[in-house]
Amino acid sequence: MNNVVAVDPQAPQTDVIERAAAILYGGGLVAFPTETVYGLGALALNLKAIHKIFLAKERPDWDPLIVHVGDVTLARSLMKGVPPSFEALANQFWPGPLTFVVDKADHVPGEVTAHRPTVALRMPGHPVAAALLKATGAPIAAPSANRFGRPSPTRAEHVLEDLASRVDLILDAGPTPMGVESTVLDLTQSPPVILRPGGVPREELEQAIGEVHLASAVEDETARAGLAGPGMSLKHYAPHARVELLDGEIDESVIALKRRVEELKREGKTFYILSNYGDSRLYAQTLFDQMRDADAQHADVILAIMPPTHGLGLAVRDRLLRASGSPAAAKKKTDHE
Ligand code: TXA
Ligand code: MG
Repeated sequence: MNNVVAVDPQAPQTDVIERAAAILYGGGLVAFPTETVYGLGALALNLKAIHKIFLAKERPDWDPLIVHVGDVTLARSLMKGVPPSFEALANQFWPGPLTFVVDKADHVPGEVTAHRPTVALRMPGHPVAAALLKATGAPIAAPSANRFGRPSPTRAEHVLEDLASRVDLILDAGPTPMGVESTVLDLTQSPPVILRPGGVPREELEQAIGEVHLASAVEDETARAGLAGPGMSLKHYAPHARVELLDGEIDESVIALKRRVEELKREGKTFYILSNYGDSRLYAQTLFDQMRDADAQHADVILAIMPPTHGLGLAVRDRLLRASGSPAAAKKKTDHE
């Protein structure tokens, strides 16, 4: 397909970035890499372009978009008032995998924020995203570039698989370094609340500003132990294979895993194992890619050993729970994709 163009992840070619910026200014959609996952970008203040994002992703209009900015001044211009911990957090974690939910400035369109009074803002650190933001000099709205409900894309191939010709240009810079999305932190509450665990761990936020809460639904989900059933619920981050979770102490999980493997073999089912228990960074980096790989292999079941809750483990657990469609995760489905 000729809508995919290779770009150097470290030193993006100027002509490629200029072409992408021109498409955005023409009201088009450009998929681009960030350090977390690929985003599906449109100019945030262009209503027609925003509408195209929702159509391409088949995303329901109640789910607000993240607005990406190239600098802190632009971020400030999109908010109403500046929350107390914003400066300290932005200084330490921007550019990076951290998104702030803040009161929105009046000129930020309701179409972007799903008609909420708040807007989600992030300054990505990936050189390609940074170059694109610099070339446009404007805020870029960009949800993850997957079809709604599917695993987020960590490679250009994933974007093509889900969106194909619905996107005008895909900037292919190879696999994204982090593999899970940004942490979404609500700064309109005090103490701030993590709405979605992600690339910046809770521990690091607390080191920077003190107490940080976890949204109660995230807390319930990630604390929830045991095998989650397939459920009847709408799934997110969902591969086609059924996802079964193995939680608890690692030796217990391994025993349970072996038992399930034997059972599945007897039933003649095919399976795929996710088991980076001891390395949450690697688990995060490969999680969505492996889910898609399992589908490519037509696995019936994905058996996933849950990582511990600290560091990036919290984000991995959250995504696995949603992919499994566990009832606890489903409760929260309306809030966070
Ligand atoms: O790493 C990321 O954050 C990636 C890259 C492309 O930047 N983007 C991403 O966007 O994951 P998306 O749309 O897939 O997820 C955005 C999350 C959703 O869970 C959405 O509900 C939440 O942010 N969100 C956006 N605006 C919000 C708001 N005003 N209040 C509460 N949550 C909000
Ligand atoms: Mg998403």
